[in-house]
Amino acid sequence: METRLREHARTLRMSDVVDLYLEVEFEDRLQYVTDLLSMVIDGRKNRRAERLIRKAGFPNTDTLTGYDFSPVTFPNGLDRRSLADLNFIQDKENVLMVGAVGTGKTRLAISLGVKACLAGKTVKFHRAVDLCNTLLELYPAGKAGKVIRDITQADLFILDEVGYVPFSKAAAEMLFSVISNSYENQSIITTSNLEFGRWNEIFGDERLTAALIDRLVHHAHILTFSGPSYRLRQALSRTEHDEDAILKDATLT
Ligand SMILES: Nc1ncnc2c1ncn2[C@@H]1O[C@H](COP(=O)(O)OP(=O)(O)O)[C@@H](O)[C@H]1O
Ligand SMILES: [Mg+2]
Repeated sequence: METRLREHARTLRMSDVVDLYLEVEFEDRLQYVTDLLSMVIDGRKNRRAERLIRKAGFPNTDTLTGYDFSPVTFPNGLDRRSLADLNFIQDKENVLMVGAVGTGKTRLAISLGVKACLAGKTVKFHRAVDLCNTLLELYPAGKAGKVIRDITQADLFILDEVGYVPFSKAAAEMLFSVISNSYENQSIITTSNLEFGRWNEIFGDERLTAALIDRLVHHAHILTFSGPSYRLRQALSRTEHDEDAILKDATLT
């Protein structure tokens, strides 16, 4: 019997049924078939999400669970709930996250990206400096096409850490051309430690900076992050623990 099931499942491109049919509890026929199909659908969704997360190129798979929103100030027209619901992706709107180092910009951007993948959206993540280096390396040999296509075809493009390293003129121009291609076709989350009034310091050229700001900032939701660095807080609390341990050792001896 299982051979026939296997054949039918293959014909219907539902080979997952063979792995799942024994896992479903049987109460009645309708319930059994319905639950079996639900399991097939869930399994496919999960596998698609895993594939999307792998393709996105995130440095880790942070989630919103445990994220502390207290450093984040929301603009009019966007709140925590609508951000987490990813409405901005549906509406092809941009989000700019600006604030000091270690305040949780990258973590929030990745968490939203992972959530988008779980919802079946395509995402591409790049640190700005890495993307520029990749483009500078591949472009002259005519090999940048795939990198650019992966970005422009994604529902969400995350450009992380604009502002830490100044770009060369060639790199800034390439970045601009990628962003122009995706303008209004997708959402872009940009994170930066520099307010955009100072972006000409990293892009050099005033005209190009103005055009980039026009693409990334106008019509964007701007979230500002403030407060002390979480990295610093974590390091300090580790030091405090170490000090506690040292004190405890000292009292024991
Ligand atoms: N608001 C926050 N809630 C929870 N963890 C945070 C928060 N902000 C930062 N962190 C943690 O601190 C570290 C640095 O955060 P990160 O997102 O890289 O900061 P940024 O990109 O703003 O420099 C990470 O380990 C991150 O998980
Ligand atoms: Mg960061």
